[in-house]
Amino acid sequence: MANQLPSSVLVVGSGGREHAIIRALLASPAGPRVICAPGNAGIAADAACFPVAVENIVGLVALAQHEGVEFVVVGPEVPLSLGLVDALMKAGIAAYGPMADGARLEASKIYTKEILLKHRIPTAPAGFFADAEKAIAYVRARPVPLVVKADGLAAGKGVVVAQNHAEAEAAVRSLLTLPGQAKIENQKSKILIEDCLFGEETSLLVVVSGRDYVILPTSQDHKRIGDGDTGPNTGGMGAYSPAEIVTPELLARIDREIVKPSVDAIAAEGINFCGTLFIGIMLTPAGPSVLEYNTRFGDPETQVVLPRLATDLLTLLWAAARGQLHGFQLAVKPDYALCVVVAAKGYPDRYAKGDLITLPPTSSLSPQTFIYHAGTARAPAGQLTANGGRVLGVTALAPTLREAAARAYAACDQIQWANKYYRRDIGAKQLNRK
Ligand code: AMP
Ligand code: GLY
Repeated sequence: MANQLPSSVLVVGSGGREHAIIRALLASPAGPRVICAPGNAGIAADAACFPVAVENIVGLVALAQHEGVEFVVVGPEVPLSLGLVDALMKAGIAAYGPMADGARLEASKIYTKEILLKHRIPTAPAGFFADAEKAIAYVRARPVPLVVKADGLAAGKGVVVAQNHAEAEAAVRSLLTLPGQAKIENQKSKILIEDCLFGEETSLLVVVSGRDYVILPTSQDHKRIGDGDTGPNTGGMGAYSPAEIVTPELLARIDREIVKPSVDAIAAEGINFCGTLFIGIMLTPAGPSVLEYNTRFGDPETQVVLPRLATDLLTLLWAAARGQLHGFQLAVKPDYALCVVVAAKGYPDRYAKGDLITLPPTSSLSPQTFIYHAGTARAPAGQLTANGGRVLGVTALAPTLREAAARAYAACDQIQWANKYYRRDIGAKQLNRK
């Protein structure tokens, strides 16, 4: 098999997720050349980085052609919904990631909700609105809490969980323009208002190729900025795998009631989906229920899921891209993985860029501890600097979750950066359950 694998791969993106993907691809026995666009300071130490933005579809295709790339792995949602994979296909370059029709499952929450309802996949009941007055009338008639969601891509910021009617109405007013009012910045043309679900959330990453799929190890993200799940939502502040709340029995139920019906529904809608279907699931007392689909790997879920794979990632993604996923057997390490996201103080609101960061030398890290880079850059003199909200992801693998947490936090504590911030309780929910 190995000699049929691509010898050169381009990874598109610049986050911790892409750094983890690149490390996993570089570990492939096939020994591929791996390049990245645009990458970051940490990725640049592992793979040649090219300064082509993820929105620059023409530029990315030209880069792949110029560099003789045989396979492109797309990290973030934006290039997918802009049709990067469609453009690569036209140029005859194989890719992992859905075409624009599949990426719409993440780009439009209304489209996804319509598919979920039509195919009777468990999800919260919802109403769709373009008209602010009708939306407000609906809000007043529903029990609270209610969840108000903008329809388009919003980088995790388009969702308000409103505890009372006043908050729900305010959310509607901030998203939809009332008649006779001027449009405010960032207002949308459509929103969705859905009933609130209660329970713990889990992220399920599924590698899909048409009607075939492989479920990756379970994981749980920590979306809120503060310890104890307090404060505003973020892109994700840490994760661990496996998520033991998803027992083998529950996973079998999720597969039966959600994963297989989702993969079949997407195919029945005429979408030839190849890529990661990331299913956000609420584990409610009545059973698992779909919160959302994303059409890419999760960040930071990827930073705990990929290090646990004993299967070669390149073999898996290539099989998906070639339509050869049927019967694919995934091998998973028994270790636990835990990732702590190190962010800039002030994130997800305002934060400083350009602070100097000194990382501990690899020799002082515990075994099986990896520092993935996200928002990092280099100062003109070469020092590492903070260049984003979520800046680093420290993942550790260990025979127990407690040990994985101890290793990851020991590394976080050694990072020298005046404005570093990280949650202190990643994994605590699972550790306290025991
Ligand atoms: P989404 O982008 O649709 O997954 O929403 C972002 C976050 O909002 C989710 O991860 C949940 O924490 C929360 N959320 C979304 N929909 C609901 C819902 N129906 N009930 C409760 N919380 C929700
Ligand atoms: N960690 C959540 C996401 O990637 O959307």
